[in-house]
Amino acid sequence: MDKNCHLWQMQSPESSLSRRGRRAASHPLRADFDLFAEAMDNHYHPEDNPEGCLPLCIAENLLNWEEMEAKLRGIAAAGPTPDWVASYTSILGAPAFREAVAGFVGKHIAGAELSPERFAVSAGATATIEMTAFLLGDPGDVAVIPAPAYAVYSGDIGNRAGMQRYDLHPADEDPVAPATVSRLRVADLERAHAELGDRFRMLILTTPNNPTGQIYAPEQLRELADWCIDHKIHLVVNEIYALSLIDQRASAIASDYDDVPEYTSVLPLLVERDSPYLHWWYSFSKDFGISGLRVGLIYTHNTALLEAWGNSGAPSITSNYVQWLLSELLQDHDWVAKYQFRNRQRLTTAYATVIATLKQHDINYAPAAGSLFVWFDCSRFLTDDTDAAEQTLWRGIFADTGLLLTAPDGMAAPRRGWFRMVYSGIPQDYLAVATERLGRWLAS
Ligand SMILES: Cc1ncc(COP(=O)(O)O)c(C=O)c1O
Repeated sequence: MDKNCHLWQMQSPESSLSRRGRRAASHPLRADFDLFAEAMDNHYHPEDNPEGCLPLCIAENLLNWEEMEAKLRGIAAAGPTPDWVASYTSILGAPAFREAVAGFVGKHIAGAELSPERFAVSAGATATIEMTAFLLGDPGDVAVIPAPAYAVYSGDIGNRAGMQRYDLHPADEDPVAPATVSRLRVADLERAHAELGDRFRMLILTTPNNPTGQIYAPEQLRELADWCIDHKIHLVVNEIYALSLIDQRASAIASDYDDVPEYTSVLPLLVERDSPYLHWWYSFSKDFGISGLRVGLIYTHNTALLEAWGNSGAPSITSNYVQWLLSELLQDHDWVAKYQFRNRQRLTTAYATVIATLKQHDINYAPAAGSLFVWFDCSRFLTDDTDAAEQTLWRGIFADTGLLLTAPDGMAAPRRGWFRMVYSGIPQDYLAVATERLGRWLAS
């Protein structure tokens, strides 16, 4: 051994980490991070880089940033910042913010009166999901999630809480023609319960769903919730896309919807049932296009959960400055209503742009009620029905067109070859370029 070389220099840096650290070092958060970095380095620009890439993989809504930026700037400039912003506040969230949140969610999402004391605030939905799993599940417990679903749930419930994910495919769902209203039934939960027994600790529903844009009917939510309460299984409904709704009556897409299934929040039912087994998640990342501000919420009637949250949530709190800015913003109900009205119009226009291309080329897709996604079927381009062929197709679309769709890994699609496109993360004129390229590729 070289006498100048210390033993530690011969070891890999990973060996200095805990088992958890080593695992994290070798498991990328998302399978599309490498290509995402490549796409961002070579981003499309109409004059400077017309052949550049268009990243359509990350669930962001940048369509309303101009209005949002002006509003936040106006709040900050309007007067002094309150003193409480500089100090520690409640780990459950600053009282003024929880008050404003209760008013906003009650009026714009729930249509019901909500109590500020039943909210807890964390640094984004990611932290909220992780905290909930940590406090409700033990290692090895299982969260059942109707498939297809948000890939990152696996890490959010697994990394710290050690919970496992079970992808539940509803028996009545048609995998090649998904309906706008989910076909999940109590019979599907019974099936999962028969297989998992007491390990079935939590059911997570996302409405509108990522990636399908599906929603749940009020009666269906009631049946699923009552089954969970009867079986002492926690039901958490993630309504992070509650206001990211598609106008199903818009003429370009109206024929996709038999009747117009309206989105329904679980919150009035949660209040009515007053059960320790029902919980609601939200975040300002999507509906307000401020994923960088990191604000997530839970609403629950489980007082022990809130107690535990207050004692252990310190690492995940949101900055007081952000809580203050948003308190001011949320109290301006007229501004919020106008912002969300415009948001819905812009999302609908962007969604319809993508759908027009898919229709032209006879491609199946899930008619969405909401979300930021089009979930569509490229399976006819698969050379084989294998994961490897699916990866080749996804990477091939990027190589041929510069369009980076979300990696198919971890979403538990019922059929290979279905991909998720995010239509709200680039300007409308860029989206026109993206759909033009997609159309050319589909025709080739
Ligand atoms: C269903 C779902 N839950 C949670 C998140 C994470 O949100 P946040 O940025 O607030 O952590 C996302 C982001 O894509 C999501 O789609």
